[in-house]
Amino acid sequence: MDPLSGRCVYVADTGSQRLSHPVFHARTGEFCDFVMENRLPQPTTVHCHGLTLPEAADGAGFTPILPGESGRVRFEVRNRAGLYWIHSHAHGFTAEQVHAGLAALLIVHDAEDDALDAALGLGSANRLALALADVREANGVLMPYAPAGGECLHGWYGNRMTVNTQLDARFVVAPGWVRLQILNACNARGLLFGFQDTARPVSPLLPFQLLGTDGGLLAAPRQLEHIFLYGAERIDIAIEAAAGASIQAVSMEFDPRHQVRGKWQQPMLHPGRANYPPLASVDICATGESGGKALADGARMPLFALRVSDRAATGTAALPQKLSALADAGIFNGTPTRRLRLDFDDQNGFLIDNQRYRIDETGYVVARGAREVWEIRNSPISMPHAMHLHGFAFRVLRRQGTFGPARALATETQGRLPTDLGLKDTVVIWPNETVWLAVDFSLPDGVAFRGPQRYMFHCHNLEHEDGMMMRNLTVT
Ligand code: C2O
Ligand code: CU
Ligand code: CU
Repeated sequence: MDPLSGRCVYVADTGSQRLSHPVFHARTGEFCDFVMENRLPQPTTVHCHGLTLPEAADGAGFTPILPGESGRVRFEVRNRAGLYWIHSHAHGFTAEQVHAGLAALLIVHDAEDDALDAALGLGSANRLALALADVREANGVLMPYAPAGGECLHGWYGNRMTVNTQLDARFVVAPGWVRLQILNACNARGLLFGFQDTARPVSPLLPFQLLGTDGGLLAAPRQLEHIFLYGAERIDIAIEAAAGASIQAVSMEFDPRHQVRGKWQQPMLHPGRANYPPLASVDICATGESGGKALADGARMPLFALRVSDRAATGTAALPQKLSALADAGIFNGTPTRRLRLDFDDQNGFLIDNQRYRIDETGYVVARGAREVWEIRNSPISMPHAMHLHGFAFRVLRRQGTFGPARALATETQGRLPTDLGLKDTVVIWPNETVWLAVDFSLPDGVAFRGPQRYMFHCHNLEHEDGMMMRNLTVT
């Protein structure tokens, strides 16, 4: 663990191995300073997912670091405490590079976060930050990233889960509260996350407390038995672990709602790929079969295990009922500021407002400091999309038109999911669903960026992202 108070060298060089994810820590108000040395045969970038940064530090692919070059990203962290993450965002290469391990965790701390740890009586073994990413294994060997055309359309799915790049991850914790900050770092897989007691696998799921979401702590904890987490979403949860227990985290079966009809076609892949080789010298989005067997989206999958040591708990800390000063999201029934549509078309693939990505577009124009309500509607003949906005957090106000099985996951008011209770930067939108978001384009205290800044709004299914389901956004 490197405290982020100096220079962090982050090297992009996968060789034939997956890279392990570095974990960085920073406090709100501190500076991060990354030097990225690109030893890949492809362009790369350093994008800090979830942070509010000026365009030059956002690493959104407008100025990639070319092979053999290095780049420096220096910025002040102004966001609340939470789990953020750093990943490659080179257009056309994002899925392949993130799959190869080009991602890191950035844990931001602040006073509210410190107070929570103190109240829960957490020792260092009982606070974990976990990046969950699926890989494809065949006969004990990890397969290279080489999705066939159909997988570029639906997303690439592995058959085993890694946690911080390890297979069969197990963590030894002390009895008492265990706080887990979890990132779904899968290219495309959704996770219906829950815990089982290994000794009683048929008994009901173990309850846990949702403490926070993408952008930090909720106002109050919410008790749950399971929670849906789509690509790039984060949750902060606490589970009370009994001495000697053995707990298994699983993704339970769910209906993934892939309703898209149509075929992947070459023009749907980002044209920038043409000039650089694939990392594993296997073509991507080719016709025919890819190597290894995928486990379907929505299939049950073991995630990781917690072994609770059997020394007696050092006292049972009560869960605080107030976690942060986060205000209520409110409700919405007026006229939205902006209406967006997600569609699929046979020639162009997945589209946002009928366009595929063009790097030189101005895109949506928003005034700095504006508060907007975005109404985003996903087509019924579609699949779920994990829509992500760079640089600015939002709240989920309402969901409507959600299909039955997904609707059953929406346990909160206004048809919302439990993850909708907090501050978000990535939100799942199911087929046929309309979601209303309150987006705040003001800057955190103490920051003043000048001039127009370009950000991005895109799907975080990484195959969709490389398939150009992205738009620019200009803040003036
Ligand atoms: Cu996590 Cu535009 O990215
Ligand atoms: Cu991002
Ligand atoms: Cu998508």
